[in-house]
Amino acid sequence: MDNAFQQAASERPTVFVLLGVAGDLAHRLVVPALFELHRQGALPKRFALLGVDRDELDAVALAQHLHDGCRRFARTVALDDAQWRQFAEHVRYARVDLSQPSAYPALADAVAGLRGDDDTTQCIYYLATPPSVFAAAAAGLGAAGLLHDRAHTRVVIEKPIGNDLDSFRTIDRALKAELDESQLYRIDHFLGKETVQNMLALRFANPIFEPIWDRRYIDHVTITVAETLGVEHRGGYYEHAGALRDMVQNHLMQLFCLVAMEPPASFAADRLRDRKMDVMRAVRPIPDDAVSQYAARGQYGAGWIEGTRVAAYRDEDGVDADSVTETFAAVKLHIDNWRWQGVPFYLRTGKRLAHPVSEISIRFRPVPHQAYPYGTTADHQPVRLVLRLKPDEGMDLKLNVKVPGAHFDLTPADMRFSYKDAFRTPVPAAYETLLYEVLAGDPTLFMRADQIDAAWELLQPVLASWLRHRPVDFPNYAAGSWGPEAAEGLISRDGRSWLTPTWNGPDP
Ligand code: BG6
Repeated sequence: MDNAFQQAASERPTVFVLLGVAGDLAHRLVVPALFELHRQGALPKRFALLGVDRDELDAVALAQHLHDGCRRFARTVALDDAQWRQFAEHVRYARVDLSQPSAYPALADAVAGLRGDDDTTQCIYYLATPPSVFAAAAAGLGAAGLLHDRAHTRVVIEKPIGNDLDSFRTIDRALKAELDESQLYRIDHFLGKETVQNMLALRFANPIFEPIWDRRYIDHVTITVAETLGVEHRGGYYEHAGALRDMVQNHLMQLFCLVAMEPPASFAADRLRDRKMDVMRAVRPIPDDAVSQYAARGQYGAGWIEGTRVAAYRDEDGVDADSVTETFAAVKLHIDNWRWQGVPFYLRTGKRLAHPVSEISIRFRPVPHQAYPYGTTADHQPVRLVLRLKPDEGMDLKLNVKVPGAHFDLTPADMRFSYKDAFRTPVPAAYETLLYEVLAGDPTLFMRADQIDAAWELLQPVLASWLRHRPVDFPNYAAGSWGPEAAEGLISRDGRSWLTPTWNGPDP
């Protein structure tokens, strides 16, 4: 964090209204991140956390519930009691049923009580609620007069925003009826990840990459976000989402845009977001009648993860025994512009895959002429730049080198940069970074409405086709594998392959 920025942010009195404070998101992610900021001295000096929910709670019971969340999920392993007590002094509770329009004036009173007469106080409304509540909550907050002060009021919402293009537009219209775009902070937590932000540094702070970052040198790009986890306790949500909505529409599209975007004129929020939008505008639409050429889906069956037998998706809690929800999705995208013409981007993500790895692999074209001496053994690999997002964040340049000795033989070798070796300081959690930016009023790391709209529009043919054509082969990949055959076909039809992501942990 920039010191001057931190100083300015810490001077702003803040009321942080956490709607849905009794829920999972607040408990696991939002409050533990706020607590970490408190520990680092990065919360404003005058700060109040007003938890809002419809449960019968008081500030003490709420603090107890939040303490449990911080103990289990905060980045700091041992929770310091003194620091916690200081933090808990800032916690208040208001019992409000957000589905009742008549309840909002009481919320307005609670906010006014914390805000006092200081009209420089900023009020942040974090909707840690299901997206179905966003429109009603915005209308209620608006009618209670809580959103009028545009300069000092922000609303934070989480993906997924909508279920398809139409529902996204309906929610967005309802939000825009009460709020200006500049007040809306839409979280995609991937944008808060240190390694994702580092892609901007890598591309635009090093002169060596930009000249080769195009169709002349790059053959194709693969983006893999693989999880070994299943749906855990989230079957109810996931049944209606699936991998395409849960991951591709948001997280993977953000990664895709960061790889493909043109250099921005500055890192100011809209300059960056404009360049991402240029990518979305140039993506070739997926034809309605050829979806299977561009997208593949899968659902996991039973299998083995790290030596433990795990159940099939259809046997998970909250999941229908005949579910056709996809737990794996892959898409192929083309960008019709000068930089990327003819360079396909292959994106894939899935649950219960072989390893928990996320990486972006930039695959370079082969050398135009192999001039090695006669008799060279060439155990070589495609030259690649691999940006490792998880685990062991960093990057590898995968090269071919000469084997030492009299013969001229080639073998693969990696040049490796690892965050944990280069910096001794721990990497902040994505939510810490994002909440800090909300408090500081910098929207750079948040999604703008037009980009979300464009992502839904791009994927709409896939959603529609998958809805029309019930998959007959589910489950079609075993837990602990790299996903369904269909995903292999998507890339192998083009004479390419995914290549196994870099993994230094134990074998499954
Ligand atoms: C969330 C998805 O947005 O991202 C989850 O809803 C997924 O299904 C998670 O597990 C992955 O995030 P991370 O930070 O653990 O890679």
